[in-house]
Amino acid sequence: MPPSSADDALYHCCRLSLNLISLPTFLACHFIQAPYGRHLRSGWGPTIPSWLSWILMECPAVFFSLLIYPFGRHASSLQSLTLLSIFLLHYIHRSFIYPLRLPRKTASVFPVSISLMAFSFNLLNSYVQIRWVSHYANYDSDEWFLGRFAGGLAVFITGMVVNVKSDLVLVGLKAQGGGYKIPRSGLFELVSCPNYLGEIIEWLGWAIMTWSWAGFGFFLYTSANLVPRAMGNHKWYLEKFKEEYPKNRKAVIPFLY
Ligand SMILES: NC(=O)c1ccc[n+]([C@@H]2O[C@H](COP(=O)([O-])OP(=O)(O)OC[C@H]3O[C@@H](n4cnc5c(N)ncnc54)[C@H](OP(=O)(O)O)[C@@H]3O)[C@@H](O)[C@H]2O)c1
Repeated sequence: MPPSSADDALYHCCRLSLNLISLPTFLACHFIQAPYGRHLRSGWGPTIPSWLSWILMECPAVFFSLLIYPFGRHASSLQSLTLLSIFLLHYIHRSFIYPLRLPRKTASVFPVSISLMAFSFNLLNSYVQIRWVSHYANYDSDEWFLGRFAGGLAVFITGMVVNVKSDLVLVGLKAQGGGYKIPRSGLFELVSCPNYLGEIIEWLGWAIMTWSWAGFGFFLYTSANLVPRAMGNHKWYLEKFKEEYPKNRKAVIPFLY
């Protein structure tokens, strides 16, 4: 189906919004920690179990992507299908596998208001990423696609392994009950939030693979969201565990930050 100029206008407006929200997101997250997990506090309305919130707020990235993908002019191209599969790989894990691994007995809660914000972001972001991959990318004249794709995929997979393994360590600690503990082993010896580091690396890989403002915007947004949260978590660990907390550990970038 050929796109109308209204489709193009909508896409460019959404893509621009994605590219512009990183700075306000960074500033907001720097001054106000999103009130879930260890930063949960009252005043943000009703709450639901965190495992349910993760499913509800992340699943649009799976269903909405699958819904809009077939309308793209590259819908049957191999490059486009491969990129879609990689995007879905992350979001099937985040929407279904990760939440179902969260222990029910020690489940924390999540404000519905925050879930709704994340739900809206996932709709916007999935639209921008998947329309680019399925429609606006120009694979025919891109002789560098394969090289960039291979490099970006290696970065993406590295990030996903770091993210998933680190989340597994934290979920394991959570399942033990008895409150927050100092995570040990692997990249936790270098940074307080290797799961966030892995997520940031993943979307850097995506930005390289897609080589687009859409992909770059998502990488920027993820960094703007997770770097201030990692700083907040690191500060929280230092205040809670004081002298016990490893001195050389940084927040999210090994040896630096
Ligand atoms: N792309 C993005 O912008 C974005 C945004 C947010 C999250 N994410 C991803 O979503 C995943 C979850 O994020 P999150 O912010 O919930 O991560 P998190 O704060 O590290 O928590 C992950 C899980 O581990 C538990 N936990 C954390 N530290 C613990 C400790 N020291 N002792 C015992 N249990 C501990 C948490 O319990 P509590 O719930 O009780 O704290 C939660 O169940 C991560 O992979 C993250 O990268 C991505």
